Amino acid sequence: MPPSRSKIETLRLHGHRLDMIDQRVLPAEFRVESCTDAAQVAAAIRNMVVRGAPAIGVAAAYGVALEAVRQQDQSPKEFKSALERAIALLSASRPTAVNLSWALKKMSDKWHAVRHQSPSHIAQVLLDYAQTIHRDDIAINQRLGSHGEKYLNDGARVLTHCNAGALATAGHGTALGVIRSAVQAGKRLSVIADETRPFLQGARLTAWEMVQEGIPVTLITDNMAGHLMAQGEIDAVIVGADRVAANGDVANKIGTYMVAVLAHRHGIPFYVACPLSTIDMSIASGADIPIEERSAEEVTGFRDARWAAQGVSVRHPAFDVTPAALVSGLMTEKGVLLSPDHARLAAFLGQ
Ligand code: MRU
Repeated sequence: MPPSRSKIETLRLHGHRLDMIDQRVLPAEFRVESCTDAAQVAAAIRNMVVRGAPAIGVAAAYGVALEAVRQQDQSPKEFKSALERAIALLSASRPTAVNLSWALKKMSDKWHAVRHQSPSHIAQVLLDYAQTIHRDDIAINQRLGSHGEKYLNDGARVLTHCNAGALATAGHGTALGVIRSAVQAGKRLSVIADETRPFLQGARLTAWEMVQEGIPVTLITDNMAGHLMAQGEIDAVIVGADRVAANGDVANKIGTYMVAVLAHRHGIPFYVACPLSTIDMSIASGADIPIEERSAEEVTGFRDARWAAQGVSVRHPAFDVTPAALVSGLMTEKGVLLSPDHARLAAFLGQ
């Protein structure tokens, strides 16, 4: 399945098999990884075959559904414990993106609504429901994009960090979805993509997506953002999010906080594009968001290359927290919430 000009299919269900673009090897290779059970999907999430908060949620939903299909000939008791094990396994695959537990809760609730039916009936219901979550994510991103693009002027030079594009979602993207929607509305935008050390989501994935679609993109290393801002070369920043706390603090890819501080220093608007499923009102502030620590090997080198001194100790927090005070607005499918804080967020969500 080679990518078409404007349609990147991050995940695709073929019968009882989930195909996902392998995001570890892009753009050098375009490879597809196939999964037929929950353990394979959990490993694909853990190993970053699929990454990005909404995409992880959709993949996890399929993981539950595929396991249900695989276990549908078991007794109801065995089916139930297999599904519980699958949900626990998927839930433990990555900690920071709340979309994972959001999607698993949706699948669990759907299962419980039909729990007295036969395993094969439940499996079909769950498979249909995972496809609904998949389709909804694309529609949500398109709505988010059309709300958000109104905040970008024609000609804007927009800096983004990590990859919050089609590859990080079921399609269209969140931060890149806003950019796509602005371009579709006839605005001439250009993107400045932070490389995003150490996993290089910006250099490998954001740059690839933009090049695929002919949207002008310039790659910089992460430490160049401040200089470009000081030179007046950035008009706006848009990033995605892995979890937004009840007070509006935002967890996103490591380095986002640094960009937000710089944007504030230079008076540049800093927007966070995220579906409502990324907002976690059960978490009071960013201090309570679990931050994933990944392996030292991702910092000391890349693939087969190693550049760090042997014996050095390494820290690798994969996300950081940007305080709400640095966020100009949250762009969601419901509209844009400017200057988020606890009261404004609760009112926005009708809580
Ligand atoms: O470690 P990753 O690549 O899963 O991190 C992804 C990000 O931080 C994205 O910005 C975030 O998930 C939003 S994706 C629409």
